[in-house]
Amino acid sequence: MSKPKTAIVTGANRGIGLETVRQLVAQNIRVIATVRSLADAEALRDMARQGLPVFVDVLDVSSTDSVKGFAERVHESVEAVDILINNAGVALDKWVPALELDIDVWRQTMEVNLYGVLRMCQAFVPGMKKVGHGRVVNVSSELGSLTGMSVGSSVAYRSSKTALNSLTALLACELKDYPDVLVNASCPGWVKTELGGADAPLTPAQGADTAVWLATLPAGIGSGGLYRERGVWPW
Ligand SMILES: NC(=O)c1ccc[n+]([C@@H]2O[C@H](COP(=O)([O-])OP(=O)(O)OC[C@H]3O[C@@H](n4cnc5c(N)ncnc54)[C@H](OP(=O)(O)O)[C@@H]3O)[C@@H](O)[C@H]2O)c1
Repeated sequence: MSKPKTAIVTGANRGIGLETVRQLVAQNIRVIATVRSLADAEALRDMARQGLPVFVDVLDVSSTDSVKGFAERVHESVEAVDILINNAGVALDKWVPALELDIDVWRQTMEVNLYGVLRMCQAFVPGMKKVGHGRVVNVSSELGSLTGMSVGSSVAYRSSKTALNSLTALLACELKDYPDVLVNASCPGWVKTELGGADAPLTPAQGADTAVWLATLPAGIGSGGLYRERGVWPW
């Protein structure tokens, strides 16, 4: 029998992250589900109480120390994780025009949506290279696609996702000699969550689907792409 895979999902206490955990454990994947506060981890603890392979840990992706401590704890039990889903994200400047944007809001957004992902990749991709296997999924947004920028506003959020797309493509290039280490980005669509709001048409389950599909792709399918609804999406 093959060893169960281990996945990390960041921002797993609610929304798309929580649903991503549900879909991974349904495929018998062991999930290290990260939360900023253990007080918000009740739904994850429920899954663990039901005997599902969910392990809750604390992580703030905007803190280098937090990522370092988390990576040390993970590497005490596994040499490398099979799957890293960088889901944690913030949208702090919804509908704010560029000319009115507080630059600190842009910095805070980048800390989570871009540097947070880079910190996590720097912590976990070397292990994937060592064992020659891994899947990284960066949860992006169609709002970050340059081809869709016909309406302004939310520039911090949207630029952070544009930059995340670039990080995804460039990291995939750097890993081209590791054909079974794949780095891709997913667009969940407009999803009913705290971030997406109550008017969004999609469920968190629909929003999580493409990320889980990318996380469980067989080798040789491709790396460095942006996907929505399991299909290629324009940058
Ligand atoms: N919903 C949509 O329509 C939509 C569309 C496109 C893309 N996305 C992307 O999908 C991802 C998930 O969004 P969502 O809609 O599920 O939003 P959400 O319900 O607001 O959840 C965001 C998650 O990120 C976590 N988080 C925020 N800052 C963090 C930090 N510094 N360190 C670690 N975790 C942090 C939150 O934790 P706390 O509970 O502690 O705040 C929460 O678990 C995001 O990357 C978002 O940009 C969403």
